[in-house]
Amino acid sequence: MFQILDGKATATQIKDEIANEVRRITADGKRPPHLAAVLVGDDGASMTYVANKEKASHEVGFTSSVYRFPANIKEEDLIQTIEFLNKDEEIDGFIVQLPLPKQINEQHIIDAISPNKDVDGFTPVNIGRMVLDESAFIPATPMGICTLLERYNIETSGKHCVVVGRSNIVGTPVANLMSRKNAHANCTVTLCHSQTKNLSDITRQADILIVAIGKPEFITADMVKDDVVVIDVGIHRIPDASKKNGFHLIGDVKHSEVDNKCSWVTPVPGGVGPLTIVSLLQNTLKAYKNKFE
Ligand code: GUN
Repeated sequence: MFQILDGKATATQIKDEIANEVRRITADGKRPPHLAAVLVGDDGASMTYVANKEKASHEVGFTSSVYRFPANIKEEDLIQTIEFLNKDEEIDGFIVQLPLPKQINEQHIIDAISPNKDVDGFTPVNIGRMVLDESAFIPATPMGICTLLERYNIETSGKHCVVVGRSNIVGTPVANLMSRKNAHANCTVTLCHSQTKNLSDITRQADILIVAIGKPEFITADMVKDDVVVIDVGIHRIPDASKKNGFHLIGDVKHSEVDNKCSWVTPVPGGVGPLTIVSLLQNTLKAYKNKFE
């Protein structure tokens, strides 16, 4: 019988720990950490993610702000906002919610973010520091995956970790983290992507399978071996008239058939998602402490 890696419960526990720390900070008469978000356009999923980040910030006692812009904003105007946020002493960390509209080059925007405030860990400086295992802001979803495996004491050393998907946000950084030389990593990592041949032959070798490919129910039972640990990063809205919000969520893994082969598995929703937000809070607290301590 498979066991659930309960992201929601783990996130609640870590939020309590952060909230305690924020109480100690404010009891000393200092201001709480502040997380800002930049939101461009009116994409439903992005609006939900930013709203969830704001809600979580308030739950742990942070202050927060959201800078909203229309989808037709010019790149140079967005860069001006980034430069303003870089300088604002009251803002400890900020994120620019992705994806951005087509007329904007995402890398130009990311490159403009001060590495000291880059709590998403997307800037070249933080990615470089991460790869060198120096102090860095680690991208939130990969960091959340590692936290979940660590908190559940999942054995990773010497295991074969197969990552499906090579995005800058998830696949590439998580492949790096899982291969690091430390007790909660030490995996042999295979990074698969759209050009990988015989994908199923590789995923079937996985002791730990991390799926971040962005295709609904892509991983089926024939693609995994018995007792695999499955981390499903996918999140897709499926129209559903029976739901109040008009949709339900599914992942990149076909849980109805894969879960029974797993030793551990993350559900969707309630798996990786809540940990992503918590990692952002942890990074914001770190940015605050880097500044004041
Ligand atoms: N879009 C999807 N995931 C993320 C994330 O972790 N951070 C930002 N800024 N945008 C995203």
